[in-house]
Order: sequence, then C-alpha cells, then structure tokens
Amino acid sequence: MIAITGANGNLGKATIRFLLKKTKPGNIIAVVRDPATMHDLNVQVRKADYENLDSLNAAFKGVDKLLQISATSMGEGGIRQETNVVRAALQQEVKHIVYTGSIKPSALANFYATHQALATERAILSSGITYTFLRNSLYMEIIPLFMGNAIERGHWEYPAGNGKVSFVSRLDIAEALANVLTEKGHENKIYEISGGKAYTFADTARLLNISYSDVPNAYLEKGMAAAHLPEELISCMVSMVDGIRANEFAYVEKDLEYLLRRRPLSFENYLSNL
Ligand SMILES: NC(=O)c1ccc[n+]([C@@H]2O[C@H](COP(=O)([O-])OP(=O)(O)OC[C@H]3O[C@@H](n4cnc5c(N)ncnc54)[C@H](OP(=O)(O)O)[C@@H]3O)[C@@H](O)[C@H]2O)c1
Repeated sequence: MIAITGANGNLGKATIRFLLKKTKPGNIIAVVRDPATMHDLNVQVRKADYENLDSLNAAFKGVDKLLQISATSMGEGGIRQETNVVRAALQQEVKHIVYTGSIKPSALANFYATHQALATERAILSSGITYTFLRNSLYMEIIPLFMGNAIERGHWEYPAGNGKVSFVSRLDIAEALANVLTEKGHENKIYEISGGKAYTFADTARLLNISYSDVPNAYLEKGMAAAHLPEELISCMVSMVDGIRANEFAYVEKDLEYLLRRRPLSFENYLSNL
C-alpha cells in the first residue's frame, strides 16, 4: 500500500495520475483533509490533518510506502506538522518514506522552507525508516505567480538580482516520484531535483521577449501586503528571493533525468507554452 500526503495538491494529484499507470487504484491511499476534493480520482481516500497525530496514525494503518509531500505551513508550525507525519509513520511501522524537500538544504540557507526540509530529513533519518529524499528546486509552474501581468506590460520587476534558478517541471517531479514509489533501488538515496540549466530572471525575461529590472525586496512586500496576503507568506517569499539572489536554487544535477530515463522538460519549452 502506498499512501500520499498532500494528495489533493498539485504535486499529489499529478503523482497519483502517474501512479495509476503503474499500480492498481486499490494500492493507493490519498491522505487529505477534505475527502470530497478527491472525487476525480479512483483511489482509496483517508482523512487526516498534519496537526492531528491520531488522524495521521489512522490514515497510515497498513501502509508500506509513504510519499510525504512537504507541508505548506512554514516555520515552527511547518516543522511540527512534518514531524507529526514522521511520528505517525514510525508508530504505524511504515517501511519506506519518500520525502519531497528543498534542493541542497543547508542550515545557513536564506530560504525558510529549507530549514523545515532539513529538520524533516533529520527526523526521518533518526526514525530509522528507509528513506528516499527528492530535494526539489523551484517549480516552473510558479513562474506565472512571480510574473503577475508582466507579459502584458512587457516589463517585469522582481527582486531576484542576478541569481540563477534551475526551474524544474512539477509534472516531471510527479512522474519521478511515481517511478521511485514503484521501483526497487531507491532505498536510502538522496536525489537533487533540478531542471537541466539555471537561468537568471533577466534570462527568463529575454526568453519571453520582455524586459526585466531588479527591485528592492520592499517592492515584493508592498505588492503582497496590498493583495492582503498573510504576513507569514510574505516573509517566506522574501526569504525565497534572498535565497534566489544567493544562488540557493542554481544547482543543476542529472538526478531527475536518471529517475525519468529521459530528458526533463526544458525551461524554454515550458515558457514557449505560457
Ligand atoms: N519547489 C517549489 O517551487 C514549491 C512551490 C510551492 C510549494 N512547494 C512545496 O511543495 C509542496 C507541494 O506543492 P504543491 O504545488 O502540490 O502544493 P499545493 O497544491 O499547495 O498542495 C499542498 C497540499 O498540502 C495539504 N495540506 C496543507 N495543510 C495541511 C494540513 N494541515 N494537513 C493535511 N494536509 C495539508 C493541502 O491540503 P488542503 O487542500 O486541505 O489545503 C494540499 O493537498 C507544497 O506543500 C510546498 O511545501 C514547493
């Protein structure tokens, strides 16, 4: 039995679609807060919340492999939630956890979510459960969120400096996860998941035939505050752009190509379909 947390999210649903090509629906358990969100996929559904250890214990009964998709909560709350998942997996004697974290995590990273990923990796390692870590660079699919209406305006302001990002397709990650969950040979392995090349935001703008200017972080903070986004998300995004400028997402590795047994989607290809 393979269980997936965050199963109704973008990465979770995409992974289940790939898994359904490789295993029977009865072998897949979607772990979600709201079962109604899984009506479009024919798999078992169990209800659990990362904040509720008992619910996670009930959801992981009889599970052999767990795909632990990183939580959306950040900071201490995110660490508590992700640790709850690991605790329940240990209590239910799950045999293997596949965890999606951050590329080349470091305690010194600017990006907050990296610290969370590192804490969860450590919790999994100290649980003694067999693990596979897929450490992801930034998704290509978040580019439209970064850009707002920049394409229409022909100009993009973003506080990314000259930092490079090895943007990676979330769909490719989903396919790689499905492979890892259904193949042997990935036990106790760490994969650094990136696109095939890293690009500055100026490179990205050029590929879209628009111009780019670096701006101070305050530009992003003001825009997000004006959109009434939560303070927690604003500080996470600021830590992310600090991380981009410090090239924390610039690593390019071949692990994704190895897991897919083909070239990953190129960033140029993705942008040409925007
Ligand atoms: N590398 C990147 O560029 C990047 C970008 C964005 C996010 N991420 C990380 O990658 C993960 C997967 O990405 P995604 O695009 O699939 O994110 P997503 O679509 O936002 O999905 C997040 C999932 O987490 C679930 N969740 C949130 N709080 C929960 C809780 N307390 N208990 C149980 N489930 C909870 C959500 O369920 P509900 O529907 O119930 O809220 C949803 O299924 C994210 O969670 C985040 O950690 C990475």
